[in-house]
Amino acid sequence: MPKWLKDAVFYEIYPQSFYDSNNDGIGDINGIIEKLDYIKDLGCNALWINPIYDSPFMDAGYDVRDYKKVAPRYGTNDDLVNLFNKAHEKGIKVLLDLVPGHTSEEHEWFKKSCQANKNEYSDRYVWTKSVWQGIANHPYVAGNAPRDGVYMLNFFKCQPALNYGFGTRDSDFQMAPDAPACISTREAMKDIMRFWLDKGCDGFRVDMADSLVKEDDERKTNTAAIWANVREMLDKDYPEAAMVSEWCNPTSALNLAKFHMDFYLDHHGNGYNTLVRDYETDGGDHSFFKCGAGGDIMRFLNDYLPKYKNSKDYGYISFFTCNHDTPRETNSLSINELKIAYAFFFTMPGVPFLYYGDEIGMKYQANLPTKEGGYQRTGTRTPMQWNKGKNLGFSQADESMLYLPVDSDANAPTVESAQADKDSLYYTVKKIIALRHNEEDLQADADFEVVYAKEKEFPFIYKRGNLTIVVNPSPNAKQVPFDMTKKKSIFEIGAYDNSEEKLMIGAQSFVIFK
Ligand code: GLC
Ligand code: CA
Repeated sequence: MPKWLKDAVFYEIYPQSFYDSNNDGIGDINGIIEKLDYIKDLGCNALWINPIYDSPFMDAGYDVRDYKKVAPRYGTNDDLVNLFNKAHEKGIKVLLDLVPGHTSEEHEWFKKSCQANKNEYSDRYVWTKSVWQGIANHPYVAGNAPRDGVYMLNFFKCQPALNYGFGTRDSDFQMAPDAPACISTREAMKDIMRFWLDKGCDGFRVDMADSLVKEDDERKTNTAAIWANVREMLDKDYPEAAMVSEWCNPTSALNLAKFHMDFYLDHHGNGYNTLVRDYETDGGDHSFFKCGAGGDIMRFLNDYLPKYKNSKDYGYISFFTCNHDTPRETNSLSINELKIAYAFFFTMPGVPFLYYGDEIGMKYQANLPTKEGGYQRTGTRTPMQWNKGKNLGFSQADESMLYLPVDSDANAPTVESAQADKDSLYYTVKKIIALRHNEEDLQADADFEVVYAKEKEFPFIYKRGNLTIVVNPSPNAKQVPFDMTKKKSIFEIGAYDNSEEKLMIGAQSFVIFK
């Protein structure tokens, strides 16, 4: 386990939309370099950058054409190495996005795989033996290649599935996960990882990490074995490199697959969603952090606690504010609600991730036309809002050239306005991150213990090491039989009174006692 993860706070950057340094309307690597001081000042000491590789961008770069080449619109490989170096000088680690389950249909491997003649790449992807033979339970494409067979898709039509074999096999085209062709796919991925790690990258966020072996068992044992093999390489040759999985099943991802971190994703009804993203629930949004919405902390704890307990000796569960696939939380929560929710995320065990712009409360831009396969995700991917200048400081290009339009609201939050307002969400985020760096008890490894949690009641009280944290997102002040007279607050949102043996916690309040 890389030690630096203990105190890591990640910042996710969607490179298209962060900062345009050469005024062509799209964010780029030099733009990220220019903003490293901003990120450092905010308190983040690690980055996850969405795919920056050469791509036809049918899925925002998750359709990789060349894993070893930076997309020209973002810069060059040298620029990326420069970013690694500049970031390291400032104590910031950089994770790239590894897309191991599929490539673009324009990748050289796939072009060769499509050929009628047998070659080195024929079995790099999943193909049946004839164009008339389909694939049960998976999308596939027929009649699109000289080769006689259909190929499997892993996601969109532009993303043919790489071949890591099948867990259960009942058809002649399905290979065992240890077939030589499947092992070469795995080794090709390791080669790509080594390529970037040797250039100074600090690890990878892994896209659809659970998707490799098809018809795998419930725990995804075969897929996990591939990642455990990758981890062996890392432990031996790159012990400081970190891996975070898009999996959302910590017992598989951490215990079996040996990822260091696993995302607690936006999945309908899971513990994370009951906190802040409960809006798909029948009968309305009952998110715990939504004031007066009748939230229930037990819905979260019943899901989270077993996952945390089972996996904590293996790795970290990663809470995030949002990501590039998920509506920004401003979609359903107010700034005051978000202050409390974020204070909670940054005081939980594991390694937290902040999505660019969430620190200033950027809005989800509903109803934007889809861009690069974004569909409803497009509204979460708009340009970072730096200041009130042209294009909100994102780019000096003509407005018509922008990757996506900037928020047109006259009151759109910007970094500049947030920094000028002592009560902004930005300062709450900055303060809680700073506190996390100061207090080992708030970091990834410190103990987590539930102290007071009752069905449909507030507040929720938990301990991290020796710190006691009291959370009351409800519209009413609460009194609890809890003697905190000997403790001092080291962080607070809202109000509290600990002068008596019963603690009073104000409406919409959050306090950390030491
Ligand atoms: C992951 C990515 C998403 C992408 C998909 C296919 O879910 O986060 O953006 O579209 O995988 O690669
Ligand atoms: Ca640019």
